[in-house]
Amino acid sequence: MEFPENTIVRKRRFAPKLYEFWIRNSLVSRKAKPGQFVIVRTSERGERIPLTIVDTRPGEFRLVVKAVGKSTYELCMKNEGDVLADVVGPLGKPSEVRNYGNVLVLGGGVGIAAVLPIARALKEEGNKLTVILGARTIDELILRDEFGFCDELLLTTDDGSLGIKGTVVDAMRELVKEKKFDVAWAVGPAVMMKFASYVAKEHNFPIWVSLNSIMVDGTGMCGGCRVTLKDEKGSKIEYTCVDGPEFDGRFVDWDVFMNRLTQYREQERLALEKFLAEVGDVSWL
Ligand SMILES: Cc1cc2nc3c(=O)[nH]c(=O)nc-3n(C[C@H](O)[C@H](O)[C@H](O)COP(=O)(O)OP(=O)(O)OC[C@H]3O[C@@H](n4cnc5c(N)ncnc54)[C@H](O)[C@@H]3O)c2cc1C
Ligand code: FES
Repeated sequence: MEFPENTIVRKRRFAPKLYEFWIRNSLVSRKAKPGQFVIVRTSERGERIPLTIVDTRPGEFRLVVKAVGKSTYELCMKNEGDVLADVVGPLGKPSEVRNYGNVLVLGGGVGIAAVLPIARALKEEGNKLTVILGARTIDELILRDEFGFCDELLLTTDDGSLGIKGTVVDAMRELVKEKKFDVAWAVGPAVMMKFASYVAKEHNFPIWVSLNSIMVDGTGMCGGCRVTLKDEKGSKIEYTCVDGPEFDGRFVDWDVFMNRLTQYREQERLALEKFLAEVGDVSWL
């Protein structure tokens, strides 16, 4: 059966509030490269949600979504056969994938999904790949069976339910004592990317982080996703949607970035509260 563009053709639940979707969209499936993202609206009046393209297959692409606020709840409540109002993309610059030598890849939480295509492409280029995946608990340690192509795979959980007890950054700190890396990638919560960047800076190797800035238009016009980068010469502003989403984490001004992430917290809280009051019990999600 042929589905119209932007139909959800497959939905799978990984953990509470954490879902995988395959979306019908021939343009995205043909053009997407590792590191790029789409902006999705679930309905005509919906907000624009930036989400990383995790995978493609003919005519379809894959997303992994965590419900954290009104719009991501709304998306996670959609079912197979539902059609999204629109999908824009692929957006952003692809990851700079080439043969670097020894590469370290870190994925935290939903960021594990985002590093999968990057890690796969790095391996195809002949890099020696060490991957550390981490989550709060075993249930959230998603897609770990899809990383079999890595040279070394380490798993961490905050509660010790699988792998090393601790965070991906704890495991990274131990690893860099004995191994030398030419470059790293890290995708996950801002705090994880921040501390991974400090470790990389200390050991003097570049680290690409994929910034989950708050976005509005996704075209470089509104300034919503601006990021401050600084080095010894001074600071400059760039935009996650058009200059990123990846930046060398050693040069990101993490204080500014994390402040900007929280600037609409009260409005976000109220929007979710109002939404939940309308839709009723979502404990099943
Ligand atoms: C390039 C890019 C790629 C992304 N890829 C993915 C992905 O693959 N899967 C996925 O689940 N999410 C991804 N995100 C994050 C996702 O876009 C946000 O979670 C979503 O926009 C939140 O919208 P909301 O209305 O549900 O929540 P809101 O009401 O906007 O926010 C709810 C809570 O989440 C926090 N929050 C909001 N936006 C972000 C954000 N961008 N980063 C971190 N915390 C945020 C808020 O501070 C608040 O506490 C990505 C973001 C970017 C910029
Ligand atoms: S989202 Fe508007 S400039 Fe990037």
